[in-house]
Amino acid sequence: MKAFTIGDASAGTLRPAELPAPPAPADDQIQLELLGTSINPIDPLVARGYGARLLNRKGDGPLMPGRDGVARVVQVGSGVTDLEPGQRVVLAVSPRTGGTYSERLNLPRGCVAPIGDQLDDATAAGLGYAGLTALQSLGAAGLSADKARGKRLCINGASGGVGSIALILARRWGAAITAVASQRNHDWLQRLGADEIVDYRDSAAMAAIRADIVLNFAPAADSTRQHDPLLGELCQRDTPGRAYVTTNTPVLGAVTDRGIVRGLAGSGKTYLKKRLQARRSGVRYRWVLFKEDADQLATLANLFAEGDTPSIVSESRALDALPDAFNDQQAASSPGKVVFMAADDRA
Ligand SMILES: NC(=O)c1ccc[n+]([C@@H]2O[C@H](COP(=O)([O-])OP(=O)(O)OC[C@H]3O[C@@H](n4cnc5c(N)ncnc54)[C@H](OP(=O)(O)O)[C@@H]3O)[C@@H](O)[C@H]2O)c1
Repeated sequence: MKAFTIGDASAGTLRPAELPAPPAPADDQIQLELLGTSINPIDPLVARGYGARLLNRKGDGPLMPGRDGVARVVQVGSGVTDLEPGQRVVLAVSPRTGGTYSERLNLPRGCVAPIGDQLDDATAAGLGYAGLTALQSLGAAGLSADKARGKRLCINGASGGVGSIALILARRWGAAITAVASQRNHDWLQRLGADEIVDYRDSAAMAAIRADIVLNFAPAADSTRQHDPLLGELCQRDTPGRAYVTTNTPVLGAVTDRGIVRGLAGSGKTYLKKRLQARRSGVRYRWVLFKEDADQLATLANLFAEGDTPSIVSESRALDALPDAFNDQQAASSPGKVVFMAADDRA
């Protein structure tokens, strides 16, 4: 069976591999045939050892990355009563559970949601992990379909996978959105429906942003120090209902450097301190860590199945092109999601 893995001595390089086919699925598992997947920033980092003590604890044998995908059900475990062979599903998998870069794989029911014909394979391939993170970030900021209308939201890092999906959802729910990204991605943000677009290199425009809620998806320059762009400005405002949510936390960096116990304790202390400081200025401050959630995944798939939803896919390539793209993350410059499809009928 064909797969893509990181070997022990490969210095984080993804390579094609032949692996034995998975056994019959356990009671709560589903056996799947992969139709497509994408790359999420966490995987190349884990492949190079970042967060490995927490996320790849066994450290034995090849590591299989892959946090998302679209797949067809081959077989279900005896405890899975709501899915059947032949159904298409969307996947969102924590690094602690396993990887999706394999022709055939077994996953727990909690990582899988069924999809209808309206959701195309390419969109579903890149939707799960980035989409659940976006949905969970909006939720942490107190935003939902019935609580977002009229809210002034700023999305920093809006052109990436998580940012693009958060923008589409918040726009659909009626928020007014300032989207922050580099100039070359401004057309992309316009197409997704941003009301105002700012280049993060333009410090005057950044300082002039007037939002009550900030979602930060911009990658941190230093993985061990907490950096919260736009939080200072938000704390100086005096409007009610302000919130700051970030997906970029020092947790994995701290665990990498200091071990699980000291790393978790240290970043826990940082989190509490930051929350307290922000609360003194009337700002709700939250870190978001992706959580597997089959119900939320189904909700997300339904939202993206609606006909007028802008596409999150900027490029669709063959699955065989996955290792080159994975190993050359510097070259990854396309906005939204780049997906890698098993079949020849790519979008
Ligand atoms: N905590 C969690 O569980 C969790 C889960 C998923 C993702 N994440 C993290 O969340 C972040 C976003 O994930 P993603 O999948 O959307 O990544 P992505 O697709 O690589 O997008 C990252 C985006 O950040 C933008 N960016 C780079 N430097 C920036 C800066 N200085 N200011 C503002 N934007 C900047 C880039 O936009 P331009 O190309 O326009 O510069 C890029 O589109 C990543 O750092 C990822 O590691 C965390």
